[in-house]
Amino acid sequence: MSAQTFYLTTAIDYTNGAPHIGHAYEKVLADTLVRYQRLRGRSAYLLTGVDQHGQKVQQSAAKVGQTPRAFAEEKTALFVALYRKLGVSHDGWAATTDPRHVRAVQVALQRLFDAGQIYKGAYEGFYSVRQEQFLTDKERNAEGEFGPEWGEVVQLREENYYFKLREHRDWLIEYISANPGFITPPYRAADVLHAAQKISEDLCISRPKTRLDWGIELPFDRDYVTFVWFDALMNYVTFAGWADGADGVKAEPALPEFERLWPADAQIIGKDILVPAHGIYWPIMLHALGFSDAQIPRLLVHGWWNVKGEKMSKSLGNVIDPDVLSTTYGVGALRYFLMRDIATGADADFSEERLISRFNADLANGLGNLLNRALNMALRYRGSVLSRGGPAAEAEEIRLVRDAALTAVDRYQEAMEAKLPHAALEALWGIVNAANGLVESAAPFKLAKLTDDAAAQQRLDAVLYALAECLRIVSLLIEPVLPTEAAGMRAQLGLSAPAPGEDVLPLCEWGGLPEGHKLNAPVPLFPRIEVPKA
Ligand code: MSP
Repeated sequence: MSAQTFYLTTAIDYTNGAPHIGHAYEKVLADTLVRYQRLRGRSAYLLTGVDQHGQKVQQSAAKVGQTPRAFAEEKTALFVALYRKLGVSHDGWAATTDPRHVRAVQVALQRLFDAGQIYKGAYEGFYSVRQEQFLTDKERNAEGEFGPEWGEVVQLREENYYFKLREHRDWLIEYISANPGFITPPYRAADVLHAAQKISEDLCISRPKTRLDWGIELPFDRDYVTFVWFDALMNYVTFAGWADGADGVKAEPALPEFERLWPADAQIIGKDILVPAHGIYWPIMLHALGFSDAQIPRLLVHGWWNVKGEKMSKSLGNVIDPDVLSTTYGVGALRYFLMRDIATGADADFSEERLISRFNADLANGLGNLLNRALNMALRYRGSVLSRGGPAAEAEEIRLVRDAALTAVDRYQEAMEAKLPHAALEALWGIVNAANGLVESAAPFKLAKLTDDAAAQQRLDAVLYALAECLRIVSLLIEPVLPTEAAGMRAQLGLSAPAPGEDVLPLCEWGGLPEGHKLNAPVPLFPRIEVPKA
């Protein structure tokens, strides 16, 4: 792992369409994990961006009469705006048309070419003129033919450049077997191992400009551009500063220092791009470029959001727009739902009803209600000034809440370290539930009426203090998922933000609020989402 900075990347998004809920999920996941690192006082760097080259972008641009560059830039703006709106705080932005990236990709291609890892060869096969791609047997229909969707199919011979993938097959098999940490969750490693065992051909890494010119030129043959995956995968190293200055030229604007970031501690990708791109091509590319085994980055593979059990697709008309959702329900509602409702690694089914019911149950009725009730009672019964409650603070009911908080903090930490925000949130709600339970069982509104009963008054103090402590701890630990709401909670609780670079975990020990601490008046943070009755 990199010595100083936790380096996390996400897959870069294709700019041949608009961002959807899957893109939003991946970036919020990355943002949450990076914010957790910072919460622990660690330094962290998030790289994300856009994959702007390739045939699909060229085709989509042609359809609307735009240049590929103008088209890609227009789509890129949509991703940038969405991530800004969702509070995704990336440190580096990888756009594959960035001249700094183009240069680094060409350095890599040239090095591989010079090392004899890339050679020219000819390929003959069936080619769809309409789709502009070679077809394999996989594209044949049940009758064994290429269906009408492929248009005219001709036999074509084409010269291209090939990367010696096969030569590294045994290395990869060994690497996967010896490094169980390479792929998370571990059950996905089996697919990669299986695919590695089946590597039987080298990888075609070029496209003649006569049929695709929207790409990065091969430095050793300007009649070709490089295959879009070779270009895209390289983003993880080029934007971390790899080979910067190799040819005497330092990138402008400056790139990070490569040794400070590499290897990435986690590269977040969806399950669809594990095999072959990230599980096969990527480690082999790095290995062939001279990266050692210790410099191969780790992959964190997440599942897919489906809709009513089906894949989202334009043709089904079921694509979920995160921009619309966050406008309708709020950024916090969307971030919370995305982090709570899917287990990292697994698939999940998106539904607006689930988003609403999660929000109402966990945030409006759970945390929001607790915050509101606790602050209201403290205001009414104690002028918002807290007191620990003397011996009542040691009563069984308070000890139970304190223990629940301690357990929740431990479980939260374990889950976040394992990159499982859903489990961390579930753990954190152990505190919310225990605190709400205390309100029910101790009934502070009844205690408040017993003004002549000193024991009852101490008990009331102890209960109000415990509720405020629970809220303080939740406000600290909810930050990676709900940064804005965490600040809102702190403001109401009369707390300042932890110092940057400070590990927040020790602050989660019970009893952090001083005697006499003054709370502020409650302001509803999570108003219930009312669904109009049909
Ligand atoms: N451009 C490539 C990645 C290159 S990385 C060097 C790509 N782009 S994509 O736009 O199709 O997907 C971007 C990311 O979003 C991928 O990790 C992909 O798995 C993820 N998702 C796309 N659809 C998704 C869902 N429905 N659900 C969750 N994530 C999904 O692949």
